[in-house]
Amino acid sequence: MNRLAVLTSGGDAPGMNAAIRAVVRVAASRDCEVFGVRHGYRGLLEDAFVALGPRDVGGVMERGGTLLGTARCPALLTPAGQAEAVRRLAARGIDALVVIGGNGSQSGAHALSQAGVRVAGVASTIDNDLVGSDITIGTTTAVDVALESVDRLRVTASAVGRVFLVEVMGRDCGYLATTVGIASGAEAIVTPEAPQTPEEVAAILRAAYARGKSHAIAIVAEGAATSVQALATHFQEHERRLGFDVRLCRLGHVQRGGAPGSTDRLLATRLGAAAAEALAAGTHGVLAGLRQGAVALTPLAEVAGRVKPAEHALVALAQVLAH
Ligand code: F6P
Repeated sequence: MNRLAVLTSGGDAPGMNAAIRAVVRVAASRDCEVFGVRHGYRGLLEDAFVALGPRDVGGVMERGGTLLGTARCPALLTPAGQAEAVRRLAARGIDALVVIGGNGSQSGAHALSQAGVRVAGVASTIDNDLVGSDITIGTTTAVDVALESVDRLRVTASAVGRVFLVEVMGRDCGYLATTVGIASGAEAIVTPEAPQTPEEVAAILRAAYARGKSHAIAIVAEGAATSVQALATHFQEHERRLGFDVRLCRLGHVQRGGAPGSTDRLLATRLGAAAAEALAAGTHGVLAGLRQGAVALTPLAEVAGRVKPAEHALVALAQVLAH
């Protein structure tokens, strides 16, 4: 490995900068030249390379977002886009690529791998939906950011006796909702993995009031079959019968904007270093993730196109705790 490129792709995640830093410094320690690619795969197709040395990645670990910028790039999923990416890398004499990102990004990495690029992925998404990693970079910080908001919402919910419906991110995976719900002591949790009707959720919230609570909070995953908006509309239409006043709060991108906590800095450092080391050792076509506490390399073929569902035991526990 003489020239390595690194990019961040898809949704930014707190900790991506620590991963970039680890990739750059591990590669540099092996006398490998490193180039950052601006704005993910889009930058790869537009030849947006920038030389990165160890000093260029100082003081970045504590910053959220990504110093390289990121983008979603549907073109990379087409054969023409992949051929162009291969051509751009070859023209620069780059013989290895690290892709820091989530599901779509690792599917792109797999496609490039099949097209002959020596690529290693780094498991990075707040959604924690990647097969091949028990936890992904950014998830822990996103959970903490969401928790701080829910703790505040509970204060006003309790003061006024209201129901709050709080939507959290996670795309098609209920991990964020389940974790935030359990850690905030929410009365109800609605996930894609455990569909509930509005009346079922209403029954849980009414039961909470019946047990003497002065508020009720439902954490709703953005990918839930019954959306947060559908719940709010149903509750408002039946306000008199249900007997509670409801408000809706979408946390949205606030969850992605936190400064990475220690867990994400450490995870990102370990996974970024592992990806660079794997490529230096001649291993490619893999995703660096964390499995059972240890760094593990999983073939991208096993990762691409799959969604890791929220752990069923956690979803079941959340349902028990909601009662
Ligand atoms: O994949 C990370 C994520 O934040 C998802 O939770 C969410 O569905 C999506 O990205 C939002 O994407 P965008 O920032 O492109 O709107």
